Amino acid sequence: MVEYDPFDWETAHNPYPVYRRLRDEAPVYYNERLGFWALSRYDDVVAAHLNTDDFSSAHGVTIEGMEKDAPFLIVKDPPEHTAHRKIVGRLFTPRRIAELEPFVRRTAAGLLDRLRDADRFDVIEDFSFRLPLDVISELIGIPSSAREQVHKLSDRVAVRDASGAMSEDAIGATLELAVLFTDLVRDRRANPGDDVITMLMNTPVEEMLRWDPPSHYQGRWTTRDVAVRGTVIPAEQRVILVTGSAVHDERKYPDPDVFDIRRDIDRHVSFGFGRHLCLGASLARLETRVAFEELLRRFPDFTIDETGAERHVSVNVRGLAKLPLVVQARAAA
Ligand code: HEM
Repeated sequence: MVEYDPFDWETAHNPYPVYRRLRDEAPVYYNERLGFWALSRYDDVVAAHLNTDDFSSAHGVTIEGMEKDAPFLIVKDPPEHTAHRKIVGRLFTPRRIAELEPFVRRTAAGLLDRLRDADRFDVIEDFSFRLPLDVISELIGIPSSAREQVHKLSDRVAVRDASGAMSEDAIGATLELAVLFTDLVRDRRANPGDDVITMLMNTPVEEMLRWDPPSHYQGRWTTRDVAVRGTVIPAEQRVILVTGSAVHDERKYPDPDVFDIRRDIDRHVSFGFGRHLCLGASLARLETRVAFEELLRRFPDFTIDETGAERHVSVNVRGLAKLPLVVQARAAA
């Protein structure tokens, strides 16, 4: 019997073998110990994303669901979600994001220029964490003096221990972050800035998102009994839509474990799907493309020091915390 525990360290490091077994052996999986269901086939994940009546986001989008009462767009159902999404959606259209490219490129170039004389740096800590943080901070008006702290606190908020519990440190970081933002909002009210939203283009690096997506599942809550593949998931149950598995579903993508940049991706679900489709998808795509362009222009001959790589494991997010690059100093093009 396949056992899927997203909090297990080994699974978090490489969940794909477990995902394959889930898809083949238990596409409607129930974990009694942790109290959640998991849908792992592409078709089922997409159908559940589209069915917001039966699969609600209002009980949170993680297994623990601790964020359920937070004032976040992501944990709202229609009609509240529809109204809020309409307001912020205007700021994140692909056209407006396209206009942001010069600004994103300046930010990327500024970060990399500081590393010009280095013979080695950590591409995660020194570059890829900072770029989206600096961009979104600029857009929402977080002063540069507070960015480092927001970044560190945000990282600590999402970390869980092996049992899936929120650590005291994560709770402390959440409170600190809340205080910091409350102060910032107060300051902004008193001194309104011109946080002008300019903006992008959509030249995806989609295969990377499919092959090893940053967000591995989206939690839902059944509002009534729902039958999936002949199994009835009762009402009032936590169900996770395992998008990390759906994008490796061989029923949808041939040879799914092979990284193939020419692959016909069609609609992947790495940014979610349907109503809660990632609001920042265009911005994330722009940042990724610019980051690679600027990085490779300066450091075309880098090698990766794999011994120094460290995985970052948090609630439903998978990625690297450290990835040292050994580089040859080279003037910016
Ligand atoms: C590669 C980077 C990113 C990935 C993989 C990603 C992934 C996702 C996923 C899977 C969802 C759906 C959650 C659900 O259905 O429960 C989501 C929602 C969301 N994302 Fe992203 N995201 C990324 C970057 C961003 C950025 C840069 C922003 C900020 C502008 C952002 C803002 C949001 C918001 C506000 C939602 C909630 C939308 C809603 O509920 O209507 N994301 N994201």
